[in-house]
Amino acid sequence: MATPTLITVHASGTYDILLTKGSLSNIGQALKERFKPCTIAILSDDKVFPLYGKTVTESLEAAGFRAVSHVIANGEQSKTLDNVTAFIDCMVKAQITRTDMVLALGGGVVGDMAGFAAAIYLRGIPYIQVPTTLLAAVDSSVGGKTAVDISAGKNLVGAFHQPALVYLDTETLKTLDTAVMRDGFAEVIKYGIILDRKLFDTVALPGSFDLKEVIARCIEIKRDVVEADEFDRGMRGLLNFGHTFGHAIEKLSGFTITHGSAVARGMIIAAKVAKVYGFTDFTETITDVVRNYGFETACPYSADELYSVILSDKKRSAGDITLVLPREIGKCTLEKMPATQVLELMKKTGL
Ligand code: GLY
Repeated sequence: MATPTLITVHASGTYDILLTKGSLSNIGQALKERFKPCTIAILSDDKVFPLYGKTVTESLEAAGFRAVSHVIANGEQSKTLDNVTAFIDCMVKAQITRTDMVLALGGGVVGDMAGFAAAIYLRGIPYIQVPTTLLAAVDSSVGGKTAVDISAGKNLVGAFHQPALVYLDTETLKTLDTAVMRDGFAEVIKYGIILDRKLFDTVALPGSFDLKEVIARCIEIKRDVVEADEFDRGMRGLLNFGHTFGHAIEKLSGFTITHGSAVARGMIIAAKVAKVYGFTDFTETITDVVRNYGFETACPYSADELYSVILSDKKRSAGDITLVLPREIGKCTLEKMPATQVLELMKKTGL
């Protein structure tokens, strides 16, 4: 078995990220080396738990932990306060105390919800992320952003709460649908564009690289960003590259366009906006790589439609919008401008 890759994050809490290949059944041992015996409340979904729930539960129990589990329906529609309350009820029944832990077994929805439940239950207990999607592995499981959706918007209720450990087995990604895997690659491409030209070049052709190494590099980039700006007051905003336009596309489609597919198109719009803003034009370079992954590249919505959604986005402050725009591949900057200028720029791109 290959040696796990260890990446340590120094934020308000210091924690390890263990990247393994085929070591899910060793998770109990990894926890035993770090934490005292306790009860672990697993949150998972009905797609992931049947695949990996038994392996994780048995491994935890063999290492001396008591495991209880709560399973929600797979999908973004489950990321609700009601489902957090139901999970908390399950923790109360299992008599989970502050010395016990939560474990998120699944993708971004499960990770965000489990992290949020852990942040508020008894005013905060530790939690472990076991991401089983590429998107969760490279993004949402690292950095301590936890949240649920409410009717007014996605992720509008949440907390910063860093995990106590992130444990990834890249073999779990093998069971992902092609579309879900591709969604994760939108975030991988994003890391390359915002901060690492070499990574962008490495992943330009799908399947031509070592996935574990690429995931490790993305996590290192995220680690560096989180260590520099844990509470999202500055450079962490770079991680939103493609997301301002992407979220608008996702919402306008009634979430029929997936997050990754929307972010892929959002990155192309950002490149076009950068050009009309006066920066070098990287539209073709970005579009080519996005297309290599089989993403649609055209935006089905007008500048006015996108703008109406962007205006209601939580990232807008006092009439200004901060866009993440590429200066070079591997170097993006945060450009704060009046909201109306964003509309003008989008119109200039021909949207
Ligand atoms: N997913 C964006 C962030 O963690 O800041």
